[in-house]
Amino acid sequence: MLEDKFGRKFKYLRLSITDVCNYRCDYCLPDGYQGDKPEGFLSLEEVDTLVSAFANLGTEKVRITGGEPSLRKDLPDIIARVKQHPKIKHVALTTNGFLLEKQVEHWAKAGLDSINISIDSLDPAMFNAITGHDHLDRILRGIDKALALGLTVKVNAVLMRKVNQRSLQGFLDWVKQVPITLRFIELMQTGDNKVLFDAQHVSGEPLKRDLLSQGWVPILRDKVAGPAQEFSHAEYAGKIGLIMPYSKDFCATCNRLRVTAKGDLHLCLFADNGLSLREELISGDVERVEQRLVALLGDKHATHYLDVGFTGATKHLAMLGG
Ligand code: GTP
Ligand code: 5AD
Ligand code: SF4
Repeated sequence: MLEDKFGRKFKYLRLSITDVCNYRCDYCLPDGYQGDKPEGFLSLEEVDTLVSAFANLGTEKVRITGGEPSLRKDLPDIIARVKQHPKIKHVALTTNGFLLEKQVEHWAKAGLDSINISIDSLDPAMFNAITGHDHLDRILRGIDKALALGLTVKVNAVLMRKVNQRSLQGFLDWVKQVPITLRFIELMQTGDNKVLFDAQHVSGEPLKRDLLSQGWVPILRDKVAGPAQEFSHAEYAGKIGLIMPYSKDFCATCNRLRVTAKGDLHLCLFADNGLSLREELISGDVERVEQRLVALLGDKHATHYLDVGFTGATKHLAMLGG
């Protein structure tokens, strides 16, 4: 079992399969893809070895992330390969949704259980301004399709000063009708976004107070549920979630570890450099990977230190899949 010295258990792996993204979200990659050459990403076999090692150590859920994971043509094969591990109960995907409408049937057929999609504004002009693309309509159609296929759908919206009250009301009207979980995420400072962060960061606390005063009820959380808080409402088909990394004790429920597309373990979204698993993965020796994971976990810190402006080596979240 992967457990750290603070008693946190890690049954959830976030596996990035590419750091390339086709969007230019202003808080993440405003100038487009800025990574290394898009080569040397983990092969299907290396993904298999990695997931076997994590599964042997108690991992039950794998979320496939990017960059934008659907840019990899072998995404359905990766989903199927992860899903085939008997100990992996849940395979999830985080995507910007640009290929959702076209591809979601293939992903579902490969065994995908749930999908998280970013939509920072329901106003097409604002969506376009944030992402650099006018894909809102096709993403919304893709979400309808995913729901019809029986997938669990969560939508991520980053809270920013410029996304105004009208947008928030639009989101709430949507959640009234549609059984999604809409999560508002506090904008996080990364190495590359300090200017935007200083201008646009807002706390999720006032929104939380508004929700509580409007009949939203906190859903009791399991200790291993991860850092998002969720709320339900008798008159709404969907739920609301809040991800507030600047709030006290956010990291106490941390349940996740991350591996980048090139095979580096990150003990935290804002840890320092990644810890390479590449040699062990190339060897194909699952036990060796397990031993290295257990040894490295000893260095995981209690929290991220974001509150004091520490961003570690994290230039942007596309590097390691959020
Ligand atoms: P599920 O609980 O599996 O739905 O995962 P999630 O909410 O973590 O998934 P998603 O990929 O949609 O992540 C949403 C965003 O929440 C991430 O990209 C980060 O911005 C933020 N987030 C998720 N996990 C962490 C974490 O461990 N620490 C911090 N600081 N932020 C996180
Ligand atoms: N702060 C908060 N959320 C971010 N995301 C990317 N960068 C940041 C940031 N700096 C979100 C995206 C996506 C998820 C994977 O991470 O909007 O929903
Ligand atoms: Fe876990 Fe780091 Fe996220 Fe905190 S910031 S919840 S420790 S990954």
